[in-house]
Amino acid sequence: MAKKIIAVVGATGAQGGGLVRAIQGDPDGGFIARALTRNVSSDKAKELAQQGAEVVTADVDDVESLKRAFEGAYGAYCVTFFWDHFSPEREMAQAKAMAEAARHAGLQHVIWSTLEDTRQWVPLSDDRMPTLMGKYKVPHFDAKGEANHFFTDLDLLTTFLLTSFYWENFLHFGMGPKKGPDGELAITLPMGEKKLPGIATEDIGKCAYGIFQRGQELIGKTVGIAGEHLTGAQMAASLGKAIGQQVRYHDVPPEVYRSFGFPGAEDLGNMFQFKRDFEADFCGARSPDFSRALNPQLQTFDEWLARNANRIPLE
Ligand SMILES: NC(=O)c1ccc[n+]([C@@H]2O[C@H](COP(=O)([O-])OP(=O)(O)OC[C@H]3O[C@@H](n4cnc5c(N)ncnc54)[C@H](OP(=O)(O)O)[C@@H]3O)[C@@H](O)[C@H]2O)c1
Repeated sequence: MAKKIIAVVGATGAQGGGLVRAIQGDPDGGFIARALTRNVSSDKAKELAQQGAEVVTADVDDVESLKRAFEGAYGAYCVTFFWDHFSPEREMAQAKAMAEAARHAGLQHVIWSTLEDTRQWVPLSDDRMPTLMGKYKVPHFDAKGEANHFFTDLDLLTTFLLTSFYWENFLHFGMGPKKGPDGELAITLPMGEKKLPGIATEDIGKCAYGIFQRGQELIGKTVGIAGEHLTGAQMAASLGKAIGQQVRYHDVPPEVYRSFGFPGAEDLGNMFQFKRDFEADFCGARSPDFSRALNPQLQTFDEWLARNANRIPLE
């Protein structure tokens, strides 16, 4: 039987890359990956081709390129790239373009990598956190949640995937342990004693693959994934054990985090506050048990650290 093609947006990146590797790593699974990239001759794109994926050009800002890239596919993995441009409006336009292309191609299963529209919990009138860019509380969450309607409006056969905080943020996103004035290493998060769902990025793709493997079962459903739910203190303790140096958890109020001044600090300050203030809903939507059912190789934080601690930049 012909293999079902999954068109993967962001294939050279974290979420999409994990999915391409999961599909290509299971040659008897009945699927083949079509990796979408803006540059088929990049090293990462060539690597995906070597793994057996079909590699095609597409840009999520260009709906016609998406229509071509989705043509003949069974399904698609759709993700947007907020941190490349910091524009919620552009993110929504990209989601709309992917939904339209999926409709045009008559896809039988779309996974939309979304997040909560936090305004359903914290209306703009609620001043516990500032309104940003005029109409958002957490722009990079709200835009994804608002964009869900592009998929439902077109009656697409969609699974809405809620991802979690990447543990890779400790490697690449400047969130790793840093030395304070006392010379001690600490991670800084405005989470109080509340738990933060986290995941290894490679596991996002593997869970997405598990969703495609279940056929119709999860269409129309929202699936939240996480490797573990951990407090800042628990993550600091694990980080310390893994690197062989004590790491403290530096809990700061969200307003302090928002004032750190790096690009996106206000957005992230509001995001962590949302996760802190609505811990039960946020964690409740992301079951590690169900994630493990989708992806039996799901890593715990300690397992992820065992593989990655040597890559943590210590400043
Ligand atoms: N960091 C976290 O903790 C976290 C947690 C949950 C969700 N998220 C969300 O994850 C999303 C990003 O996903 P990711 O981490 O998988 O991204 P990523 O690793 O940054 O990968 C981005 C890839 O997408 C491609 N890309 C960028 N702009 C494109 C465009 N206009 N058209 C087509 N492809 C484009 C690029 O590939 P080419 O250069 O090959 O085209 C790039 O390799 C963000 O929206 C973020 O909010 C992040």
